[in-house]
Amino acid sequence: MGGKVFSASDIALDVGKHSHLFAQPKAMTQSDINDVVTRFTQTVLQAEKAGFNGVQIHAAHGYLLAQFLSPLTNKRDDKWGGSLENRARLLLEITKSVKAHCSESFSVSIKLNSADFQRGGFEPSDAQAVVNMLSTLKVDFVELSGGSYEAPAMQGQTGDERTLAREAYFLEFAKAISEQSTIPIMTTGGISRLDVANKVINSGVALVGMATALAYQPNLVNSWQTQPTQNLLMPRVTFKDKTLAGLATMALLKRQIRRVGQGKHVKANASAIFTLISDQIRSVKLTKRYRKRFTKELN
Ligand SMILES: Cc1cc2nc3c(=O)[nH]c(=O)nc-3n(C[C@H](O)[C@H](O)[C@H](O)COP(=O)(O)O)c2cc1C
Repeated sequence: MGGKVFSASDIALDVGKHSHLFAQPKAMTQSDINDVVTRFTQTVLQAEKAGFNGVQIHAAHGYLLAQFLSPLTNKRDDKWGGSLENRARLLLEITKSVKAHCSESFSVSIKLNSADFQRGGFEPSDAQAVVNMLSTLKVDFVELSGGSYEAPAMQGQTGDERTLAREAYFLEFAKAISEQSTIPIMTTGGISRLDVANKVINSGVALVGMATALAYQPNLVNSWQTQPTQNLLMPRVTFKDKTLAGLATMALLKRQIRRVGQGKHVKANASAIFTLISDQIRSVKLTKRYRKRFTKELN
């Protein structure tokens, strides 16, 4: 969204020729870090006040907390970088602060990568260790996903045929981590069929997460009662450029959700190119509106 960009270190996102779309981050100071802990906590309190039942702290997919967790983006030599214990400190501090301030019945979960799918990045053994670190903090569950904008495994794009061919992309990791974990584990990514959801549960993983399938068929889980073997029509964007394919996939999904919100039917055969362009125009407009409002409020 432009503006100032912060990260664990000053390492910019590398998505090849599209990298210029993302700003160069500045390594956070201790006071920036304190501020982020406060902001997460305040946001959770606002969510509780607004009537939500719970929140999920997002430490996956290359966002800020994942940037601290990954040795590829966290090159710090203070207590927030280096060892895994140090790289996980920000996630743990935020979780502790959130748990200390929200009410006991308010659900707090964590979204964590099982792996970054990048050489030298956050690995399954790191995910296992972080889940163990979280085990005393009374979080309700940990959702395991994977990948980032640089290696979008959460959209099934890892370049690894074994993963692509499979549904429930992160099941093997989730299963292994569940065996060692006292916290219930959820896995999300690629699940759209009842038999796959059952396979996840039968493998000992506590929860099944779904995003894309529910965008295309919001009533999917109920409809399994009468049509347990249905195959959902979920178009796959086949652009060669993986970054654009990822953006177009998200644009199509957001469009379906907006259509359903407007009482319209899902349009599974919408044009990927047209939807991507109109989504980009929409995002630019919304960002401008947001920044204008934000500047006004600051003044
Ligand atoms: C409409 C939509 C919005 C999403 N927004 C985000 C997001 O803001 N941040 C993120 O890390 N993942 C986001 N995701 C990814 C999902 O949380 C999920 O990990 C991913 O889609 C894989 O699950 P699926 O195969 O069931 O879709 C989004 C997915 C969808 C469908």
